[in-house]
Order: sequence, then structure tokens, then C-alpha cells
Amino acid sequence: MSDSYSLLILPGDGIGPEVMTEVVKVIDWLQANRGLSFDISHGLVGGSSYDAHGTPLTDETMAKAQAVDAVLLGAVGGPKYDDLDFSVKPERGLLRLRKDMDLYANLRPAQCFDALADFSSLKRDVVAGLDILIVRELTSGVYFGEPRGIHADNNSDNEGGRVGINTQRYTSGEIRRVARSAFELARRRNNKVCSMEKANVMESGILWREEVQWVRDNEYPEVELTHMYADNGLMQLVRKPGQFDVILTDNLFGDLLSDAAAMLTGSLGMLPSASLGKPMANGRPKALYEPVHGSAPDIAGQGKANPIACILSFAMALRFSFDQGAAADALERAVEKVLADGVRTADLMGPEGGTPVSTSEMGDRIVAALAQA
Ligand code: IPM
Ligand code: MG
Repeated sequence: MSDSYSLLILPGDGIGPEVMTEVVKVIDWLQANRGLSFDISHGLVGGSSYDAHGTPLTDETMAKAQAVDAVLLGAVGGPKYDDLDFSVKPERGLLRLRKDMDLYANLRPAQCFDALADFSSLKRDVVAGLDILIVRELTSGVYFGEPRGIHADNNSDNEGGRVGINTQRYTSGEIRRVARSAFELARRRNNKVCSMEKANVMESGILWREEVQWVRDNEYPEVELTHMYADNGLMQLVRKPGQFDVILTDNLFGDLLSDAAAMLTGSLGMLPSASLGKPMANGRPKALYEPVHGSAPDIAGQGKANPIACILSFAMALRFSFDQGAAADALERAVEKVLADGVRTADLMGPEGGTPVSTSEMGDRIVAALAQA
């Protein structure tokens, strides 16, 4: 019997609660059959928190998130909240979690499962076997830089009389720490990092390039480092994705690149993510795990959502927060097996057919495959 791991579950909005229910099945199974023990608490984030408390994240939930071994989040947002003030929009809850927990390294693996290679918008031979990892800086850059805001601007010949401001700002320390995360991860993979910025137009991009190179030269000389302008990088990603191993990039470019990478693999409903910060007292990093997909309000509540991205996010938690690599491997293999057997939620249903299942049936199948492994 191992120690108990504390886990805060924040299902969020839209399909978030449905996919999270399936993760809880996996957790229950691991507790009952693999001797793992989780101390689980639940909370609200995003629109559901706004509905209950008038804020997308309460201070109490924030404090809980700071105290646990890991946070598992579903998704936030929905059209119902479109007209809310910017400061209380669902996304602000997620951004506060990332910022206050200082989760600076966002890991977004994009793996193409063989059973789904035909779902990609690219040809099978371009994406088959694809396995890349995007490391996105998550707590700085234009998402958080000051000054920011919308102000009156009547001093110039400005039709409309307003100005909108955001600031791309990176310190050398912020760049170095996320670069270290990328190099560490590359060491466990194929030892290749490609860093992306816009050093041709942005000073922050020049600094990014110099600092990443500095970390590589001084601390990771065995890792192969290349640099690309982010626009070319995105083009290369859809042209020949297999050339990449780890992609390291800033907050905004990482947002764009990871959506594109997700589509390469065929379904946004498949991709997990981990957001990691500094080590806590127990040596494990502060951590939040969430699927890359959004809250998909158009299909919420219909049993159509694909729970795999959220389940694979929990697999990342097993690996990075709970040191349960074997359980993580087993869970990933169970997902692969179910897909290879042709079990399909609606988003995965292609011309070749398969067994159509609901969100809940997909969870059951994965648990059953886990039990057989
Ligand atoms: C993501 C999302 C978020 C982001 C939104 C929901 C704030 O697009 O995690 O990629 O822009 O970072
Ligand atoms: Mg995004």
C-alpha cells in the first residue's frame, strides 16, 4: 500500500463534468485493484464557479489547489458567459490557477495513435507514428504582461477614440527555467529541441533565442538545439511534423502551435496536457493536468464527448506527480487497445466504421481493458 496522493478535481463547464466522471472510474479502479490511494476533493472553476459564487475561482478553491499534490481540470467556458465582464470570464479562473501556482512549463504531447492516423487532415504517411512534445511557457508573455487594458485615446487622429494594449514581456529567468524543462524532457526522448520565437521582429524573441542557447551551451551540450521563427515553425509542423521531437516556445505561440499539433493527430478529443511548476516540499512539482480541448458546449450533456484526453491527462498525473509510471503506461496501453478494437466516440467515427459508444461506455471500455492488462 502506497501513501495517499491528494488530488483536487475541478470538472468545470460544458463537457468537463462528463469526461471527469470517466476519469473517476479509472481512479476508483486503481484504488480497488492496484493498491493506490487518492485523497480526492472537488471544487468549481470557470462558469460553474461564477454561477455559484460570482467569481470563476474562489480564494478557497485557489488555496486548495496550492495545497494538493495535483489538480485535475476538465474544461472552462461557454456561450452563456460571453457577455460577462472580462475580469470574471470563465477563462480567468484557469489563468489564475496557472499564474498563482506558477505553472510555467506546459507539456502538450501530440501523439498519433495508429488506429486514428486516417483522421488527420494530413496524409497517413505524414502523421503515422507521430510523437512530438510541445513545451509552452505558461505564466508570462503577452498573456500576463503589463501594461494591458483598453483605454481612451483621444490624443491622435484615432477614429473610435480607444486603444487596446497587451505587452509581450519575458525575463531571462523566465526563459531559462522553461528551457531547462524542455531540455530535461528531451533527454528522456530523442535529445532534440527546436525553439520557436519571432526574433526577426521582437526584442523579446531575440532574448528568448539567446537565453535558450545559453542554457543549452552551459547545461545541456548533448542536446541538439535548433531555432525557428514561429511562423516558419508552424508551416514546418504541418509540412513535415516528424522532423520535431521537443518544441519549446512562448505562451502565445505555444497556444497556436499546440492547437495545430492537436489537429495533426486527428482529434482534439485525444490530447492531454500537464502544467508543471517548481518542486514542492515532497519533491514533486506543483501540477495541474487538463485536456487540451475546450468545453464543447454544443455537445455538452449528450453523452457524445470523448473522455480520452482527460483520461490521458490523468495518466500524465500518474507519471509526473505520483511517480506511478507503470500505472500510467498501463492506462495508455488500455486506451490504445480500446481504439485498436474500433471502439469510437462520435468524434472518432470515420468512414471505416467501428463500434459507436457514448462517453460513459468509452470510460467503461477503458477500465475493462485496464483490468485485462
Ligand atoms: C489553452 C486555451 C487557453 C489559453 C484559454 C482557455 C484561456 O486555449 O489552454 O490552450 O489560451 O491558454
Ligand atoms: Mg489554446
